[in-house]
Amino acid sequence: MKRFFFLFLLLAQVASAQDINIIPKPASVQVKPGNFTITRNTTIAVKDKEDQSTANFLNDYLQQVYGFKLNTKKRASKNYIRLSSRKSSTDTGKDAYTLDVNQDGVTIAGDTYAGTFHGVQSLIQLLPVEKSTSLEIPAVAIQDAPRFSYRGMHLDVARHMFPVSFIKKYIDYLALHKMNYFHWHLTEDQGWRIEIKKYPQLTEVGGYRDGTIIGRYPGTGNTNKRYGGYYTQEEAKEIVKYAADRHITVIPEIEMPGHSSAALTAYPWLGCPNTGPYKVEQTWGIFDDVYCAGKDSTFTFLQDVMDEVMAIFPSKYMHIGGDESPKTNWKTCPLCQKRIQEEGLEDEHELQSYFIQRMEKYINSKGRTIIGWDEILEGGLAPNAIVMSWRGEDGGIAAAKQNHYVIMTPGSHVYLDHSQSQREDSVTIGGFTTVQKTYSYEPIPKELTAEQAKYVLGAQANVWTEYMSNPAKVEYQIFPRMTALSEVLWTAPEKKDWNDFEKRLLTQFKRYDMWGANYSKAYYDIDAEVLPSPDKQGVTVKLDAKKDLGKLVYAVNGMQTEREYTSPLVIKEPTQVTGLFYKDDQLVDSLTLKLNINKATGKEITLNEQPSEYFPGMGAFTLVNGIINRKGGRDQQSVGYSGSDLEATIDLGTAQQVNNVVVHALNSGGTYVYPPKAVEVYGSTDGKNFQPLGTTNTVSEVAGSKAIVKVEFAPATTRFVKVAVKNTQTVPEGKQGAGEKTWLFLDEIEVN
Ligand code: ACM
Ligand code: ZN
Repeated sequence: MKRFFFLFLLLAQVASAQDINIIPKPASVQVKPGNFTITRNTTIAVKDKEDQSTANFLNDYLQQVYGFKLNTKKRASKNYIRLSSRKSSTDTGKDAYTLDVNQDGVTIAGDTYAGTFHGVQSLIQLLPVEKSTSLEIPAVAIQDAPRFSYRGMHLDVARHMFPVSFIKKYIDYLALHKMNYFHWHLTEDQGWRIEIKKYPQLTEVGGYRDGTIIGRYPGTGNTNKRYGGYYTQEEAKEIVKYAADRHITVIPEIEMPGHSSAALTAYPWLGCPNTGPYKVEQTWGIFDDVYCAGKDSTFTFLQDVMDEVMAIFPSKYMHIGGDESPKTNWKTCPLCQKRIQEEGLEDEHELQSYFIQRMEKYINSKGRTIIGWDEILEGGLAPNAIVMSWRGEDGGIAAAKQNHYVIMTPGSHVYLDHSQSQREDSVTIGGFTTVQKTYSYEPIPKELTAEQAKYVLGAQANVWTEYMSNPAKVEYQIFPRMTALSEVLWTAPEKKDWNDFEKRLLTQFKRYDMWGANYSKAYYDIDAEVLPSPDKQGVTVKLDAKKDLGKLVYAVNGMQTEREYTSPLVIKEPTQVTGLFYKDDQLVDSLTLKLNINKATGKEITLNEQPSEYFPGMGAFTLVNGIINRKGGRDQQSVGYSGSDLEATIDLGTAQQVNNVVVHALNSGGTYVYPPKAVEVYGSTDGKNFQPLGTTNTVSEVAGSKAIVKVEFAPATTRFVKVAVKNTQTVPEGKQGAGEKTWLFLDEIEVN
């Protein structure tokens, strides 16, 4: 009996593995009996200077979050947090650490100083998530090391600029997630943000724009307010030091040859002689004004700029952009054309490659390595360049196969400017990337052999700030997806587990609260799935939510009839379904689906051609699921076609009278997305022989980014309805992307 009681006590003291909520998940965690309590009397024992800066980080954290600090001494034998790095500054590239907690104290031993620093991050995550001056932590033995050597976050400070204090906070967020590279995007069409002493106009002129569009591109107006600013070299050096103290390398990005309107505005001689005048852009997108590749003075300028940049940033890596650089000006520039001839280049793509290679040679001569976006593959890769793969993974795969190092940043998983919720309350650039999707990312593409996979250094999330004008919005966009990415980058794939991550994420939410950080609660979003009803006479609506964390209820056609949701709802007439999710009796999410039931809803539908892999919606059924995207916008409720037409055949099940067909499309103000050029409707009783019913080439209604095309015809009796929707196909002259393929987006086809 006594022994049993003793055992019970022992068990009660051992924290369960679930109580260890460290993100990213460590390689090995062993929970031991007992605990240790950090109080004001605890001493940080630390011997050398680098570990002292890690101790300072810990103290700053304790001060900010818990309101007290600890003394540091060279040694302590009781009540201590001991930091020691086994090797001096020889970086093994592994940055492993061990963390041991027993009744006497905490011992963190890194392979490197960075390893010790990462160990302190794990210690921080053992601390309680309530403010206290007595911080009990479980006795544990942790062994840990990162999977990838490159664990990065990017930030665009050109579209919107953030104060030095926020840049430091952002760097702290990286540190807390054991990330080690901060990619600082410093130059753009909309502003040049780093002081270059030899060319003061870059910031004095190029640092400011005369206004900014309001709302989503193309915008509902302009602020007409001067916007801008820049970081002085002193500030940039301070940031580099701040990051280095956190074992983070700052990689500056100086964009070339594109995204350089601000530089050209400052120094118009940098552009092709047949172009201009230039302005610091006030809207978003891709602009034709790029550096002239025909002038040697362009290269002298960029070399001078890089000289100053390399003096500020000790990083081995220098990012020189290379993305989205239109060739329009180069095609008609006599100097660029002369360069093509003299260098024996094939075309303007090879001219871009010449440009990047010439800059690479210079930067290599200074002992640095260039990174470029995946467009630098086009026209031939610079010999030593590292490729940042953003347009999916293809660029990264191609580069690794050419034995080039690669950093993966695919738009599909790690563009944190995308929406995280299907019902975003603020404007984003679009897309839809949940925290779970980011978590699911695997940086090593299947296409690579084990040997080629070694060229993948790691991955990074990109944070483009067109629609993030303040720090709170940046935080909202990065959290919690950045937290998910940290585990992708750090934790061995066999240890990754979404369900386990979710449990730890709940504690992480409390940490965000303690940090005072803004974050998205889209994790609690209700998930709705609309499927054909079993008899195909309507739809089945399935709701899902984190039911073990709260309560899911629903209401039909108004709020009077709230009921607990237990099983899918079958809907056969126009209905509004609202799902409501309560956590701790607070409403954390609500979702309303307006189901527009018509003759096509829930019916069998076939497409002559599948939509683009980038915009597949939820397949063909998207078009007859009863959900009309009333605001427009590219989401899971629409399918996209690039340059091609779409032919949909709907089987109504039985022959019946039809009077008209309504096609719901997206119209995006001339940004590659155009309403249908024409819609043709055909009927058939056997699904083989179709007769024309009606056609139109006019858009009946354009509202915001929506376009509706209604085809009316004499009432006809038919079972099969074929709807041929014609794509505009080519972007008209004078519009953005003239000559390129247009997109056709459809979200619903009604048959009435
Ligand atoms: C990019 O997103 N243009 C690299
Ligand atoms: Zn030129």
